[in-house]
Amino acid sequence: MDFWHRIEKPIIGLSPMDGVTDASFRLVAARHGRPDLCMTEFTSVEAICRGADGFVRDFAYGECERPILAQIYGRTPEAYYQVAHVVCELGFDGLDINMGCPAKNVANKGCGAGLILNPELAVTLIRATRRGIEDWTAGQRLEDIGLAAEVLERVRSMSHGRPSEEERRAIPLSVKTRVGYDRVQVDEWIPVLLAERPVALSVHGRTLKQMYKGQADWDTIGRVVELARDTGTLVLGNGDLKSMADVVERVRRTGVDGVLLGRGAMGNPWVFRDKQWAKDALARGAELGAVPPEVSRVEVSREERTRVLLEHSRHFEGLWGEHRFPAMRKHLAWYCKGFRGAAQWRARMVRARNAAEVARIVGAA
Ligand SMILES: Cc1cc2nc3c(=O)[nH]c(=O)nc-3n(C[C@H](O)[C@H](O)[C@H](O)COP(=O)(O)O)c2cc1C
Repeated sequence: MDFWHRIEKPIIGLSPMDGVTDASFRLVAARHGRPDLCMTEFTSVEAICRGADGFVRDFAYGECERPILAQIYGRTPEAYYQVAHVVCELGFDGLDINMGCPAKNVANKGCGAGLILNPELAVTLIRATRRGIEDWTAGQRLEDIGLAAEVLERVRSMSHGRPSEEERRAIPLSVKTRVGYDRVQVDEWIPVLLAERPVALSVHGRTLKQMYKGQADWDTIGRVVELARDTGTLVLGNGDLKSMADVVERVRRTGVDGVLLGRGAMGNPWVFRDKQWAKDALARGAELGAVPPEVSRVEVSREERTRVLLEHSRHFEGLWGEHRFPAMRKHLAWYCKGFRGAAQWRARMVRARNAAEVARIVGAA
């Protein structure tokens, strides 16, 4: 049984967010919230194959994040085939293909949500990836698939626990997508994906055109559940979930096998803390009125916030170096909300140059 089927339903995972859910944030989320699964930020297969070094950072992960999936995007079947080998070699638990990114520089090139307009290519990409996983499992070596020397070198330099020859196991393949391009298209688009038998489909309840505006359409996610019935593919719903109370309500109404939370986890890795309560409540068939208020909104003391934002800052700096610390500031601003004095802290945090400065601001230095 793969990890997807071992997780108690509903699966409650951390949604990938480029520039946010890096290895440092995922570690903090894993320690303080424990989502059922994590994914890397989406990573371009073409960039990896060109030898760009960004994937070393994108594909960094820690053991405590497991199960951890690598998420990839692109439009070149051969690159998917090669990168599938890299993902397997780096010991990821799963591989997820992004067919949902609406950003112009991605979708206009026919990648991400752009693939909704090109189902034939989407199928070709899934098949190329699956072939990559199968060939790697059968013993194919990275050296023999035409990867550039610098890519091989970078993969070797990464310190993850690489599976031994005996541990070569086919990792499950999943897809994350949206409900359509410029209108709801699930009746055409979702069966195309289901026919390829991905282990799971994560569906964000917005079209590409909606970007992140309006409200996620959970009725349409419910329709995806119907389409996937008896196919063996798990459906994860995604969009606008901010608390375990939201999770209970959406799962109960749609019957999804799981959910992903993205923006609700920004500055709030604790959002997953009561996931067991949500699972138990759903197993009992609890009505929404039964949700205790302390579960609908995880209360986190200022002391705990301070401790975790410092831990995050130090880990971030240790992993990426002081020169990248400006990328930590948005997290600091998100943490500094909802308590007395938060605004003053936030104003200073967004100029912090390193973790030591953050410690001084919170009076811990
Ligand atoms: C800043 C940002 C970056 C994102 N990057 C990715 C990504 O790399 N891969 C992906 O599949 N989705 C990405 N998403 C989409 C989220 O995973 C999620 O589908 C979306 O935000 C809706 O869920 P939410 O309402 O819980 O945030 C991103 C979203 C945001 C806000």
